[in-house]
Amino acid sequence: MSDQLKTQLMASNKLPRHVAMIMDGNGRWAQRQGKRRVMGHKAGVDRVREAVKVSRELGIESLTLFAFSSENWQRPADEVSLLMELFFTVLSREVSKLHRNNVKLKVIGDTSRFSDKLQQKIAKAEDKTKDNSGLILNVAANYGGRWDITQACQQLAAKVAAGEMSATDISEEAIEQHICTAQLPALDLMIRTGGDCRISNFLLWQAAYSELHFSATLWPDFGETEYLDILANFANVERRFGCTSEQVSASLQE
Ligand code: IPE
Ligand code: IPE
Ligand code: MG
Repeated sequence: MSDQLKTQLMASNKLPRHVAMIMDGNGRWAQRQGKRRVMGHKAGVDRVREAVKVSRELGIESLTLFAFSSENWQRPADEVSLLMELFFTVLSREVSKLHRNNVKLKVIGDTSRFSDKLQQKIAKAEDKTKDNSGLILNVAANYGGRWDITQACQQLAAKVAAGEMSATDISEEAIEQHICTAQLPALDLMIRTGGDCRISNFLLWQAAYSELHFSATLWPDFGETEYLDILANFANVERRFGCTSEQVSASLQE
């Protein structure tokens, strides 16, 4: 069944080029079963693997996953350190497989706050996979949408100060070229699991015209079937980008 849907989706030519996921609900998933929150994060890793596999098989160009937000440092210290450990372990365990599958891994966010050991692990993983031409997998870690826009502004201000550009050259395109997703296709679809309908400071600039899908499913229960259904819905949405429906239909017939 899902193979059939996959074939249909690939033939439709209406797949998103860039999908982002806010993987929320791990803690509640664990607590509902009387387990510690960290067990939910561990269970969530299997779903990350699955989301990557489906995206790769469908030929989606870029998948951006929210793993740890700039606000998540406020959680209890033991949860934060367990999340860091898990990130390290998963990187150690999965990078060779990602590499074999031609996936290019990129970590986006302010990684300078991570331990040296973790920063080295990230750099090694990115370097190993940098020439791969398949799915681009962006893991957002210590990422915040406001931070991203701020760091882009800082880079541009530094260029103005150095006389490389003038203040009036700061355009939407210039900002676009300095945010973390500069080299990627525009964000088409953002999915959030866990039942809350908010963006939680994820890809703020990038989400300006993306389709938003909120699912009540907790992340450790989010599987291939639901992902494919969301993609099938996406394929049926008319994206107007400010135009009228008639204009969109006319441009499709050109
Ligand atoms: C998302 O799950 C994972 C991270 C933020 C790291 P949560 O840990 O936020 O799970 P809930 O929302 O508390 O259920
Ligand atoms: C968003 O989830 C961040 C990640 C999934 C990594 P949160 O659980 O941190 O979001 P809020 O705090 O409920 O908005
Ligand atoms: Mg949450």
